[in-house]
Amino acid sequence: MSNVKMIVQSETELRAWASKLAKELKMGMVILLHGELGAGKTTFTKGLAQGLGVSQTIKSPTYTLIKEYDTGVLTLYHMDMYRLEDIGGEGLGLIEYFEGDGVSVVEWSEFIQDDLPTEHLDIYIERVFEHDTYRQLTITATGKKYQELLNHLNIS
Ligand SMILES: Nc1ncnc2c1ncn2[C@@H]1O[C@H](COP(=O)(O)OP(=O)(O)OP(=O)(O)O)[C@@H](O)[C@H]1O
Ligand SMILES: [Mg+2]
Repeated sequence: MSNVKMIVQSETELRAWASKLAKELKMGMVILLHGELGAGKTTFTKGLAQGLGVSQTIKSPTYTLIKEYDTGVLTLYHMDMYRLEDIGGEGLGLIEYFEGDGVSVVEWSEFIQDDLPTEHLDIYIERVFEHDTYRQLTITATGKKYQELLNHLNIS
């Protein structure tokens, strides 16, 4: 497992980094976004979508669980599992998305713990004390292809 930490100072910077990450993504990759309400998970997803070349507007999928955007170089599956707090993700066929042709970005994946692929990229987004627009990002790769992705992002 490898780990990278960084501070971004603004929403623009966070989106730019997400967009850069998007350009390294391959079919079937899974990104789990962690952080409290309002940390910036959906904002991160918007930046990532932009990097994929998605032309549709990204809306928070809280009431639909999964939204699919197919106008970029890879299909983006944006999931928000917040509403599954008590019931989990069993029976939703999530594996079809995770192993599908696109890339999956998941908010509140802790509620579908049992249904997640072992290999993935975790991104923790945390507020920084006394700085409204600062966020600390902690990125952890599990699995060889995600470690390679992270190494590549780190040096470039
Ligand atoms: N550096 C930053 N990165 C991301 N968002 C920021 C930053 N600075 C300020 N913000 C603001 O913080 C809010 C983040 O909201 P967002 O919907 O992305 O959070 P979320 O983590 O998806 O929350 P939820 O769990 O409710 O879905 C937005 O209003 C955004 O403008
Ligand atoms: Mg959100």
